[in-house]
Amino acid sequence: MRILVFDSGVGGLSVAREIGKALPAAGMDYVADLAVFPYGALEPDVLVTRVVSLMETALAALDPAALVIACNTASTLVLPPLRARFKLPIVGTVPAVKPAAEHSRSRLASVLATPGTVKRDYTRGLIETFGGDCRFTLVGSQALAGLVERQFAGETVSDAELLAEIAPCFVEEGGRRTDTVVLACTHYPLLLDRLRALAPWPVEWIDPAPAIARRVVTVTAGAGPSRDDGLPHRFFSTGRQPPGSLLDAFGFVAGGDLFAGEAAKAGKSALSV
Ligand code: DGL
Repeated sequence: MRILVFDSGVGGLSVAREIGKALPAAGMDYVADLAVFPYGALEPDVLVTRVVSLMETALAALDPAALVIACNTASTLVLPPLRARFKLPIVGTVPAVKPAAEHSRSRLASVLATPGTVKRDYTRGLIETFGGDCRFTLVGSQALAGLVERQFAGETVSDAELLAEIAPCFVEEGGRRTDTVVLACTHYPLLLDRLRALAPWPVEWIDPAPAIARRVVTVTAGAGPSRDDGLPHRFFSTGRQPPGSLLDAFGFVAGGDLFAGEAAKAGKSALSV
């Protein structure tokens, strides 16, 4: 049994890591759309067309038992069109508003996400439905996912750059202050230790990856016994390949050229945005 994990960049590795723990016998294939990253500023119709077309190629080539859209920015839009088109189980990643509302004692929580995710009706709907009396501050970070990519591509990202992106999450109001921050972009948990150290005061950071992994276990329960196909966890990219050391750290190897031609197409669509 193989699971296909998709994100715009390396962020979905935070989800793959948890899937690997929950389903150690399953193989994983990972697709990163690094030719188009970041998705955070893409227009909705461009994003949907792009993801559906990439998944068409990837599903035909890799034939997984389940697909995980390990990207909040994409999941808030593409799950219905993907489910309408492809018949395998599809697990998405959406902001963990419900656990945050259940956890917060001060009733001040923040959602840290890409500008696309905070704009979506989907995210606002989650807050209306599950937020209860908890007041959510929506923080759309222009730069944080890119800073994570840079860090994992081997560059140095300064504390000041990271702090500027997370600072708006920390709100003080009427003697109360934010006590819960939802990590609503899969890139962010990859730098959680640094974010925690930089926080102006301690908060609970909610990383939905373990819950997503549990969902993957549930939806693949009927997929039959895991088979050892002898293949490693493979990482495919539409653009540049991340450093081997990063793939290695997450137990992946470079998967080869699944998307020949996609980078050129991506260049065009990114320019037309
Ligand atoms: N990792 C993605 C997410 O969970 C977004 C990064 C981006 O492409 O802007 O939203």
